Formats: sequence, structure tokens, C-alpha cells
Amino acid sequence: MTSNGASRQIKPDPCSFIIFGVTGDLAHRLVIPALYNLAQSKLLPDEFCIVGITRHKMADTELRESLMKGLRKFATRPVDEAIANRLLGCLSCIDADPSDPGSFDRMATQLEALEKSRKTAGNRLFYMATPPSAFAPISQQLGRVGLLREDNGYWRRLVIEKPFGTDLASARALNHELLKVADEHQLYRIDHYLGKETVQNILVLRFANGMFEPIWNRNHIDHVQITVDEKLGVGHRGSFYDATGALRDMVPNHLFQLLSLVAMEPPARFDAHAVRSEKAEVLAAIQTQSEEEALRNSVRGQYLAGRIGDTDIEDYRKTKDVRPESPIETYAALKLTIDNWRWAGVPFYLRTGKALAAKRTEVAIKFKQAPFAMFRDTPVDRLSQNYFVIGIEPAEGITLQFNTKVPGPAIAIDGVEMKFLYKDYFKVEPSTGYETLIYDCMIGDNILFQRADSVEAGWQAVQPFLDVWKNLGAEGLEYYQAGSDGPEGSAALLIRDGRNWRKPS
Ligand SMILES: NC(=O)c1ccc[n+]([C@@H]2O[C@H](COP(=O)([O-])OP(=O)(O)OC[C@H]3O[C@@H](n4cnc5c(N)ncnc54)[C@H](OP(=O)(O)O)[C@@H]3O)[C@@H](O)[C@H]2O)c1
Repeated sequence: MTSNGASRQIKPDPCSFIIFGVTGDLAHRLVIPALYNLAQSKLLPDEFCIVGITRHKMADTELRESLMKGLRKFATRPVDEAIANRLLGCLSCIDADPSDPGSFDRMATQLEALEKSRKTAGNRLFYMATPPSAFAPISQQLGRVGLLREDNGYWRRLVIEKPFGTDLASARALNHELLKVADEHQLYRIDHYLGKETVQNILVLRFANGMFEPIWNRNHIDHVQITVDEKLGVGHRGSFYDATGALRDMVPNHLFQLLSLVAMEPPARFDAHAVRSEKAEVLAAIQTQSEEEALRNSVRGQYLAGRIGDTDIEDYRKTKDVRPESPIETYAALKLTIDNWRWAGVPFYLRTGKALAAKRTEVAIKFKQAPFAMFRDTPVDRLSQNYFVIGIEPAEGITLQFNTKVPGPAIAIDGVEMKFLYKDYFKVEPSTGYETLIYDCMIGDNILFQRADSVEAGWQAVQPFLDVWKNLGAEGLEYYQAGSDGPEGSAALLIRDGRNWRKPS
């Protein structure tokens, strides 16, 4: 999303797109296919080059072939050979290893020569598609050899992939390292959830329509539910997942992006500074819980063997590279409160898990019940619930649930739904979800990227849960069958407040 809708059509400045970790999964699966879609939509600069960085020597042709194979496999649209060849024809490979500083001096010289021959001026976008442990060493080297210095009017930007830290202390340390070599305006901390149309639409929905704001507060909203359910198990990512868990993997980034867009105050202007300041503000207002509160307001689960569709899923603990006694959660549910004027007393319930019955990502805003049962034989608690649902997956759209009269002479009431689905109104080209984000980096719009303060506020809010769960180990971990709706405690977390998770119709 750009600050000015019309600017969506502008071509970015000439630039070099430098990918660290170019031989990896992300570059093959998402970054190159996204660049291909941008090329097809004529949204890449005319003077453009891709520079792939690997720690080993590799010929340009070998890297091109590998990325072309990846593109054919992962492209979201039919591949036009001419566009693909033009895109990968401008790719060069350079070897540089952050553990060998001399290699970065050589890389700087090679890069400058390439930029001259490709006429990309001096604008550079460095994309860190490496494991997170390499983010700080790479940025230190880039800073040392002067490649991040913005001089002669050129821009130098650094895209940092997720996860950004593994807890509050490590996120602070990484911010500290990055800010030693670059200014905040040069840093683009990516969260690919913000590349999704419906997620961006939350802002438009709230602030471009006069009808929602008057009711978007504690006077009318009973509570908010944020759900990110996945059907897949951990698969081949056992080693990563067993060091991470559902909470770290999903909550401080994806779920908090949704929470901050739903709960933030209206920004004074639609620009990156104002929007990001409001998002940081609301995340900082999430109440920091004591260990006792965190324990009471959370549920964690781990999946046992089960069947989802026609696929058998084995116990999480039998997954390759997972500890046989692992205490790691594959499901997390939290109850949070936001200490500010708008949301005082309105709980936010968050849940996310793997190996569940269905894939679903949604924000459900539950409005307060009608205050008085004026219809005979229809007690308030039997009326259907009023939900406003922002659906993100599997279908992107908005649903409003409300009560209506069943046609006929007697007064009978039933719950109905009004539905808006993106696909019914707009022709949306299939995309990887990275196009908008990469394009925004190239035009210098960081509205959709996380600022240092938001990242730290997010970790601050989840830190008590991380601490209390770590201290308990496997004690208190609930088990749920793969293909179910998750652990029973998750339902109980709401039932004790007289509420329920929304069931999709
Ligand atoms: N894969 C996805 O779908 C996905 C989705 C969202 C976010 N991410 C994030 O994107 C990043 C990359 O993910 P990935 O799956 O592509 O990772 P990956 O395949 O494990 O690694 C990418 C490449 O990084 C290079 N590398 C490894 N260790 C390095 C080091 N110490 N210093 C410099 N380079 C190093 C390696 O290339 P060379 O050996 O050639 O140097 C490797 O091929 C991660 O932060 C991940 O969390 C990935």
C-alpha cells in the first residue's frame, strides 16, 4: 500500500537488488517469483540488476538455471519465457561470506563495477534472505565497507526477513546492531502478512468509512478474536520449529500485525510515520502480565498423531529433528488486554496452531448483545451473535453476522450473514504476497514495515508467556489430536468468561 494510491503506478528508481542467501528456499520460492510478477506488471525499473550473494563461488549461469527452475516451480502465473529470461539475464553472482571480511571488500568493488555497467546508478536494495543468525554479521560488514552510506543522493535500503529476534533481549540487540550501520528509514523489517490485501484493507475499512469508527470501541465491542489456524503439521521444519514454537513463530509478528491494525487509533495522516507510530503505540499499550496472569491467560498445546483429510500426521514428537520429550507448543491461545481509553475492558483472544481441522485466518469482532429481549420467547442469549469478521484465509473478504426475522406470520428470528468476497468484486492477479512489499521497498514507502519500537513492544507483550512456559517445561502442556480444533483448554479460556470461539458457518 502506498501513501498515495496514484503512486502505485510509478516506476521505481534505477537500482540494484542484492540478495544475500540467494541459493536458499525463500529466494527460489518467493523473492524471484515476486520479482517476476513485478516485471510482468511492468513495475520494475528500466535500469535494474539482481546480484545474488552466496558464500561459495558459483557461476552466473549456474545460479540463473537454479533460479529459473525455482521460478517454473513456484510461479503464481504462467511463465512468459521472454520476461523470465530478461529478468534473470540481468542477474550476476558474487561470493561473500560475513565470516571473511576481505570478501566484503572484494564484493564492494565488484558491485560498484556492475552498477556502472548496468547503469543502475547507486541505489541499492539489500535483501537478507539468510537465516536470522546472519542478519547482524552481514549488516556489520555492509556498514564497514561503506555500502550502506547514503551519499550523492542515492538510497541504500536493507530488508530484514522474519523472525526478528527470538525474545525481547535478542530483538533489542539486533535493532542495536542494525542502527549502528543504518538509519531507521533505511530499514525494512518484513512481515509478509502485511503483503496480503485484506490485511492492508483493515486500515481502509476502518478509516475510509465513516460508519465503523463510532462503534469501534469498548461501548459497542464485547471482545475481539484473532485466529490463525493451519492444517499442516511441522513437516520437514522440525529443527527450526522445535527451537521456536507457535508463540514465537506467529504471535509477536503476524497476529500482532492484525491486532495493531484493528486496535490502533486513527493516524493524523496516511503516511509511514503517523501509521507506524499509532501501531507502536497500541502494541505498547498491551498490558504486560505477571507470571501468574500469563499462566492463567494462556493455553499451549502439542499435537498427537491424527488424520487430516486423506493425510496421516504423526505425533509432533516423532517429527524428524524434534526432541522426543519436546515441551514446545504447536498451539498457543492467549487472552490480552489493551490498557487505553478505547479498549479498556475488551479482551483480545488470540489463537494459532498447527495440524488443525481447517486452515483459517480471521479477525472476528464480536459486538455486544442487544440489551433487552423484547421479542417474546427469544431471550437475548438465544439470539445469534453479532460478529464482524475480516476473513484473510482461505477466502479474503468481510462477513457481517446479524439477526433477522424469518418470513411468515409469526415472529421468529434467525442469524444470517452478509458477505463481501474480494474475488467477486475485483480481478486479482495471483501473487506470492511479496510483490507489494518489494515494490514498496523500491519506491521507499515503509508504511507496511515494522519499526524498531513496534517490534520491541510486541516482544515485550509476549515475554511473560515465554518466560512462564520455559520455566514449566512440559508441565501444563495440553495434547490435541491432529485434525481436531486444538486443545480443550483453548475453548475453556473463553468459556470461563462466558464466551466462545466463533465457529465458521
Ligand atoms: N523459506 C520460506 O518460505 C520463508 C518464509 C518466510 C520467511 N523466511 C525467512 O527468510 C530467511 C531465509 O529463509 P530460507 O528458508 O531461504 O533459509 P535457508 O534456505 O536456510 O538459507 C538461505 C541461504 O542463506 C545462506 N546462509 C546460510 N547461513 C549463512 C550465514 N551464516 N551467513 C550468510 N549466509 C548464510 C545460504 O546460502 P549459501 O550457502 O549459498 O551462502 C542459504 O542457502 C529466514 O530468515 C527465514 O526465516 C523464509
